[in-house]
Amino acid sequence: VADVISIDPSDHKAVCDFAVEEGITLVVIGPEQPLEKGLADALRASDIDVFGPSAAAARLESSKGFSKDLMQRHGIPTAPFARFTAEQRDHALTYVNEHPLPVVIKYDGLAAGKGVVVADTTPQAVETVDAMLDGAFGENGIVIEGFLQGQEASVFAVCDGDLYVVLTPAQDHKRVGDGDVGKNTGGMGTYAPAPVVTDDVMQKVRERIIEPTLAGMKAEGTPFVGCLFCGLMIDNGEPSVVEFNARFGDPETQVVLSLLDVDVAALFASAARGTLAPYQWQTMIDERHERHAVCVVLASEGYPDSYRKGLPIRGIAAAEALPGVRVYHAGTKMVDGELVTNGGRVLGVTAVAGTLREARDRAYEACALIDFEGKTMRMDIASRALEKA
Ligand SMILES: Nc1ncnc2c1ncn2[C@@H]1O[C@H](COP(=O)(O)OP(=O)(O)OP(=O)(O)O)[C@@H](O)[C@H]1O
Ligand SMILES: [Mg+2]
Repeated sequence: VADVISIDPSDHKAVCDFAVEEGITLVVIGPEQPLEKGLADALRASDIDVFGPSAAAARLESSKGFSKDLMQRHGIPTAPFARFTAEQRDHALTYVNEHPLPVVIKYDGLAAGKGVVVADTTPQAVETVDAMLDGAFGENGIVIEGFLQGQEASVFAVCDGDLYVVLTPAQDHKRVGDGDVGKNTGGMGTYAPAPVVTDDVMQKVRERIIEPTLAGMKAEGTPFVGCLFCGLMIDNGEPSVVEFNARFGDPETQVVLSLLDVDVAALFASAARGTLAPYQWQTMIDERHERHAVCVVLASEGYPDSYRKGLPIRGIAAAEALPGVRVYHAGTKMVDGELVTNGGRVLGVTAVAGTLREARDRAYEACALIDFEGKTMRMDIASRALEKA
């Protein structure tokens, strides 16, 4: 569905020149690093519409300290916290020593999903604080915060700096093994809608989280344009913010966009141009839950640690011949006309159906048709929601 071209996204001039030469009228920025580096600002300076926040607004993701301070200033529910720089190591160690367990320690900068440690013991917490202030991820400081109980869910808001529309809430499976055991990953599978986000919870997410965040960003001179990804913890129907991302997250996007009934290019263009108003009257969420999506990630053996690359992949066409199935590529590459593995998470096998059970069964049926050496997946995606139902 796309032409892949090779341009270094950190070379802003090259990206802008390409967009101008090709007459491109909308740029959607996917990953977080180019947002942090200000690619959206550079494109806007070249008069190109961008779906994605300015560097200043992307701090909601790129600086955990910035986002915690913003939430505190605007009364947005989140875990209690304190920020420390390397010069404040003694204070940080005193604070973490006195903190109830578990305690959460976060590097205040992008760390490719590795900069967060939930410490169950004080010695582990102390060691983490020392390592992060010694520069394990860079020269920024840290955030130390309280542990939130509950169930995690993600809500995406498409924002034009002023107005927003929410998309169907999703739930990810972060741990590598069935039953949520083993190492943290970038996500092993998702499903949507997530029943933990009831209509009542969604109303609270809008009023207590999304609206004050967007109003705060606008009032402070850094309006947020793009996808505000709210990582939430929901405890007894009360949502709090675990984190913000400033973009669509993977693999939640595979299920969320699969359930979207509008033309995404038109939706993103409206957000980029500050003209979301007509969409506000359109329901982006299928409130009767007539469609469900499940995405199962096929990973390389060994992920999230080391794994092999370059292994031939077969069976995608057969999988996509099943009704409602689409296979999204994450870590693949064409070598001499043959599709091979090229990453830890290789494919996002996604099925849409009338019930969650059907979508889950269809996704696994599709996964069984795809083959590569070392193919690894979780077998329990969406199963907790199915047990509850
Ligand atoms: N205060 C908290 N209480 C409980 N769990 C937490 C807390 N903060 C983080 N976590 C856990 O750690 C995970 C990672 O934290 P966070 O989302 O802040 O990190 P991240 O590296 O920015 O993640 P991502 O790669 O998804 O953007 C969360 O999904 C959650 O499971
Ligand atoms: Mg994040």
